[in-house]
Order: sequence, then structure tokens, then C-alpha cells
Amino acid sequence: MPGEGLGARARRAGILFGTAVDSGRLQDAGYARQIQAEARLLVPEWEGKWAALQPEEGRFDFAPLGTLLDFASRHGQQLRGHALVWHQAMPAWLTTALASGPARSHGVLVAHLDAVLARTAPAIRDWDVVNEAVANPGGPFLDETPAIGELRDTPWLRALGPDYVALAFRLARERDPTLRLTYNDYGLEGDTPFAEEKRRRVLRLLRRMVEAKVPVDALGLQAHLQLDEPFRPEPFAAFLQEVRSLGLALLVTELDVREARAIPAELAARDALVATRVRAVVGTALEAGCRTVLTWGLSDRDSWLVRDREVARRDGATHRGLPLDAEGRRKPMWQALADAFAGRGG
Ligand code: XIL
Repeated sequence: MPGEGLGARARRAGILFGTAVDSGRLQDAGYARQIQAEARLLVPEWEGKWAALQPEEGRFDFAPLGTLLDFASRHGQQLRGHALVWHQAMPAWLTTALASGPARSHGVLVAHLDAVLARTAPAIRDWDVVNEAVANPGGPFLDETPAIGELRDTPWLRALGPDYVALAFRLARERDPTLRLTYNDYGLEGDTPFAEEKRRRVLRLLRRMVEAKVPVDALGLQAHLQLDEPFRPEPFAAFLQEVRSLGLALLVTELDVREARAIPAELAARDALVATRVRAVVGTALEAGCRTVLTWGLSDRDSWLVRDREVARRDGATHRGLPLDAEGRRKPMWQALADAFAGRGG
């Protein structure tokens, strides 16, 4: 790969840049080379989720996560953890356990955190402790899981009540006081009534946690951006300032871009729209003090936006929402990230 990667460029500005990785693809030399060339931080796309780590009760499988840890340590990269508590990627036994009362639910959560945090320390320094706990106000997302109050109606909420979020953070901190503990969520970036309300809900959750001395250290902004939504820096920046004023760090954890329903015919015009949005959103986050940026994959070939039916296009085109195209060539989005880092002194 010609020239310096995004990881090295970001580093000069004091920013840690990385990407989600799929352990099953690392034998592909081209894939491994891209990750080596661009990323200083990795996050497992699947390998840190509950169904991957504890597919049957009491049977832990750390092999896929171990593959990523080995790769990262061989290439001088860090690995962050994703995600300890989430309403997706739950094995069937867990759903059953969570329906068996609070004592049993508490027990399985403790056992999972005990095993996972003991096994991943000290290599993983940062975990998404709870992912996507806040309910969607109703809007453009396909996932319309119902709400109870402002929280998403999930097996976790039903099992342990709204305090399950605080409980997970407290248990994680008890097990490793040196870990950075992140709350991670999506739909927070746009200039829409949906995003405005979701920001309000997330802020309220975080504020309540900080007031109750729940050990939360950071907000992860997934930043699965959508070009059908408008963006304006001001409301997003105001939200980020509020989060910072709670004493929390900011991370962009899963950046990628879903293109609009109507796309220009020319690839160059499409790529320019993606790049402009990325430059604006990431620029605003960096301005607010965010120092960690991860994309959800590096190349369009490996993107869930192309693979996953829930988020893929239905018009025969494929999203071009990552820094490299399907052949691994750098796109305007790559340059937008490089420029955003350079704008912070990189
Ligand atoms: C996605 C993966 O990329 C897909 O391969 C998988 O099928 C579903 O999960 N928010 C998250 C990520 O926090 O874990 C999700 O990852 C994308 C949305």
C-alpha cells in the first residue's frame, strides 16, 4: 500500500485510528495487509459478543478473540472490546436464563464478566460495557425494538429492570478498576427530530449515571451515518460538549456511511458526498475532543453495509461507505479522514 496509513497520520495529531476486524478473514493476505497498513486500534466485529464468547452456558470460546489479540500484538496495535451487554448476538441459552428471574440473570452477568474480563486483561484496556440500551424515538431505523420509558425493551431490561445498565458498569469496574468503560450507541449524529430526541435520551442516561457515581468513562458514537439524513455541526457539537462536561471521553466507534436512496450515476460524485459527510462529522467530533476514531471495516468489500440484508441497498448498487473501495484503493473518504486528522495537527 503506497504512502503512510491513516493510523500513522492520526497518531501525529494524538489521535488513535482503527477499524473493526473479522478474525475469519485474517488469512487473506490482502485483508491483513490493509489492516496492518491503516489501523493502530482494532475492535472485533463479532468475536467479543456474547454468542461468540459463551455460546453455551459455562463454555467459553476465546479462540477467535485470541486470533485478533495475537494479530494486534504482532503488529503493535491495540484491541478494544465490544460488547459485554447487548440485546443482539445473544445465544439462546442466555435469552432463557434472562427470562428465569433477576437472581439467575444477575448470576449469568457476573459469571460472564468474571471470565471475559479476567481472560482479556491486561491486553484489552477499553470495553463497550453496554451497547444500544437507549430506545429509538421512532424514526428512520429498521430496528424498531419497543421502549419501556426511554430504554429499549430488551431481555436485559425485563430481567433486571432499568438499573441493569448501572449494574453492568459497576461489575466491570469492580473486576478491573483500570479499564476504560464505554457506553456505546447509534443515531446520535444527524440533524433530525429523531437524532435530537435520541441525543436527549442518551444524555439523560449518562447524566443520571454520573450523578449516581456509576463508573462510566466514555461515550462511543457508533456513527453509522446515513446520507438520507441531514447533518449540521451545531446541534451535534452542542451534544458532544454536554457529554464532555460530564467528564466523559468521546470515541467514534463504528464509522461508516449508508448512501442516500437516490445516488448520482458517477462514482466520483457518490464518493464525494460520502467524504464530505465524514469530514464534517469526524471534524466536529475531533473539535469536541474525541481522540479515538474507528471505522466499521476498511474496505467496501468487507462492509456489513454490503453483506447484511438489513442495511444493504435494495437497488442493485452497493454502499461505498468505507475508506477503501472493494479493490482496496483509497477513496475520497480516506482522504477526508486524513484531512480531518491533519486539521488537528496531524
Ligand atoms: C454488526 C456486524 O457488522 C454484522 O456483521 C453482524 O451481522 C451484526 O452486527 N452496531 C454494533 C455492531 O454495535 O456490533 C454491529 O455489527 C453494527 C451495529
